[in-house]
Amino acid sequence: MSNHILIEKKIAKFNKQIIVSSDKSISIRSVLLASQAVGVSKISNLLESEDVLNTLKAVKKLGIQCKKRGSIYSIEGFGLNGFNTNKKITINAGNSGTLARLILGLLIKSKKRVKLIGDKSLSKRDFSRVIKPLRKFGANIKSKKNLLPIEILGSEFLRPITYEENIGSAQVKSCMILAALNVPGISVFNTKVSRNHTELMLKFLKYPLKIKKRMGNELISIKGLNQFKGFNYIVPGDISSASFFIVLTLLSKNSKIVIKNVNVNESRVGIINILNKMGADIKLKKEKKYKGEKIANIHVKSKDNLKAIKCPPELNSSAIDEFLIIFLVAAKSKGISKFKDLGEMNKKESKRLDLGVKFLRTIGVRVDRFKNNINIHGNPKLILFKKFEMKNFLKDHRIFFLSCITALTLGGKWKITDKDSINTSFPNFLEILKKIGAQIH
Ligand code: S3P
Repeated sequence: MSNHILIEKKIAKFNKQIIVSSDKSISIRSVLLASQAVGVSKISNLLESEDVLNTLKAVKKLGIQCKKRGSIYSIEGFGLNGFNTNKKITINAGNSGTLARLILGLLIKSKKRVKLIGDKSLSKRDFSRVIKPLRKFGANIKSKKNLLPIEILGSEFLRPITYEENIGSAQVKSCMILAALNVPGISVFNTKVSRNHTELMLKFLKYPLKIKKRMGNELISIKGLNQFKGFNYIVPGDISSASFFIVLTLLSKNSKIVIKNVNVNESRVGIINILNKMGADIKLKKEKKYKGEKIANIHVKSKDNLKAIKCPPELNSSAIDEFLIIFLVAAKSKGISKFKDLGEMNKKESKRLDLGVKFLRTIGVRVDRFKNNINIHGNPKLILFKKFEMKNFLKDHRIFFLSCITALTLGGKWKITDKDSINTSFPNFLEILKKIGAQIH
């Protein structure tokens, strides 16, 4: 079967309600924390994408029972460090940086040696950001040049640490928090603000974890070796997946969409704040709290006269996975949009900043780049007619989604390869697009 799609027509006007895929960050965390709980946890609406299925496979290999009954996953943990393996095993994290980095935290006391591998993209990503704090805890880690494969063998001699997390990476922060669960005493992390799903879940489990604001940072103290019981969790929709439909609607003519039941945690809604500053009118309705998280329906209408933004770098972390699609809006807005300090984008599934700039230039948008800062010269009249082929993007799912939304809103005749990349985070992406009226072959 072919692994590419063709889009040759813009989407016609639509007025729809949709549900996007479940949150990937929360899905992975719910499985990993359930694997450390005492007893059975029941997780509904778990995202069934490759990153999450690899998380389930990983904990199963580590001796945890996971079963699906109806639509609910039951995961039976044996408490902290309750992995049950009697031989050296290999875990394949596939494409998932989140799985790879978080599970290393849970393995610092592993009774057997565990080898961690990943796909071509993950094997290019740097792990020094987690290896450094884990070694400070006393972990035994082997890796060449801080890349996968990594081998980890639990150490008996672990100690709590204090650590400055100054990248603003939720993967690093969560890896350290999960490691600290297994270490006696209180570990303290001074972290740059990033998504906080791990902290919220542990708080809802009544785990002894304290968070104080300090000069724009968060000081997290966590006391190790406290058990928590199995729990129930219903995973909400993913704003990162919703973002492509937000922009599809915004840049189409006379269209409207309601995206139901999406996680709108403050640390994730950068895209809404940025697009509203550019003149969009995105509204959150029916807001509710669920186990510390905020959930709402997102209402979006098409908008013609969007204007450029000077994007405040404080918003970078809360929109880190959404910049590619935000760049597309900047390309279609009046004026020069300015984005700063986006180096972290190049540490993702692909070098997203490099590819994003190349993508914009390919569709005829002027982009000035100064290291990790870019200026996008927008043009509200931008329309495409030519043929485009998107390939060689390291199967980065978000580049695939960006290409589809560009084709459907700006036009042109597009061949987009590596369709299977959607399985990383949003397996029914194309199905939903077709239901809204997109013609995709
Ligand atoms: C994630 C954190 C972010 C994000 C990634 C998911 C998470 O990465 O880009 O897609 O679930 O913790 P960093 O922590 O490296 O910024």
